[in-house]
Order: sequence, then C-alpha cells, then structure tokens
Amino acid sequence: MQRCRLIYKSKSTSDVPSNDEIRDIMRTATRHNAEKGINGLLVLSGDRFLQVLEGPYREVNALFSRIVRDPRHQEVELITFEALETHYFDNWSMRLVDLYDLPSGPRELLTKKYTNRNGSITIPDHIHEVYSLLLDAKAACASSPGTPRTGSAEAASTG
Ligand SMILES: Cc1cc2nc3c(=O)[nH]c(=O)nc-3n(C[C@H](O)[C@H](O)[C@H](O)COP(=O)(O)O)c2cc1C
Repeated sequence: MQRCRLIYKSKSTSDVPSNDEIRDIMRTATRHNAEKGINGLLVLSGDRFLQVLEGPYREVNALFSRIVRDPRHQEVELITFEALETHYFDNWSMRLVDLYDLPSGPRELLTKKYTNRNGSITIPDHIHEVYSLLLDAKAACASSPGTPRTGSAEAASTG
C-alpha cells in the first residue's frame, strides 16, 4: 500500500498537558502505531503539539480522524499530507520530545533557532521550518537517553 506522511499541529486543552495525559497518549500511540506500521514523533512545546505520522495511507488517514476528535487538544491544523518518498521518522512507533524538558545543549540550540519575540519556542508557520524543527527534535531525542517527558513511548509505558 502507498505510504504517506502526515504532519499537524494543535493546542492542548489544558494549559500544560499533565504527565498522566502524555503517558496515556504515548501508551496508546506505541501500541496502536506498532500494530498498524505507523512511525513518528510527537513534539510538545508548552501547550502546543506538533506531530508527524508516517505509514500506510489508509492507516494514517484513519488515525488522524481519531486524533482530530480527541478532546485533549483543539485547533488541530493539518500542515501536510503527502506520498512518502523518503522515510525520515521511521526509528520509533512514536517518540515524544518535550522541547522544554531537553538537556541544556539541545535545548539551547532549539531555543536559539525557533524562539519568537515572547521568548517561547513556537511551532513555525512555514513547512520547511516545520521539517527543520522535526528533524532537530528527532536528532535531540536520538542523542538523549530519555526522561519521564522526553522518552521513548516504551519507557513511558513502563514507568
Ligand atoms: C496530541 C495527540 C497525539 C496522539 N497521537 C496518537 C498516535 O500517534 N497514535 C494513536 O494511536 N493515538 C494517538 N493519540 C490518541 C488518539 O487521539 C486516540 O485517543 C486513540 O487512538 C484511541 O482511540 P479510540 O479511543 O477511538 O480507540 C493522540 C492524541 C493526542 C491528543
């Protein structure tokens, strides 16, 4: 089946999503995505989510319609849905990167690159910057061992 990549951003319904909420999302995501052959990355920046999903067209489509209806977030905005030529995010069924919970090195790098006038890291508007942030986040989490909020879904599900 044709594989595709879908990227969206959204805003948490809570001011800052709780650890329990994140753990629950990651637990479901790990199990479900592994079953359906979906890979990806979920970036959290304060109350903003940015997620990339790569996998079979039909499965990614079905997952996105569930995600859109999830009451834990709002203002879900599709950024891109395209046929996949290169797999960029196939390392994990789902991995969480909390931009405010990274070790100081990667956090400083991302803060310098993506900070807006208010001093917070915002999800960029332009698609090439979105890709750049996702790839930077992927590199940051690949090089960090993982913490309660910046870890593999597998780690989140066990602890
Ligand atoms: C920001 C965010 C990202 C999510 N990512 C995934 C995901 O990658 N995979 C997944 O199965 N569920 C994900 N979910 C959870 C789904 O929205 C949904 O709750 C879950 O798939 C269970 O759906 P069901 O209750 O209809 O079976 C996410 C939810 C949120 C709020």
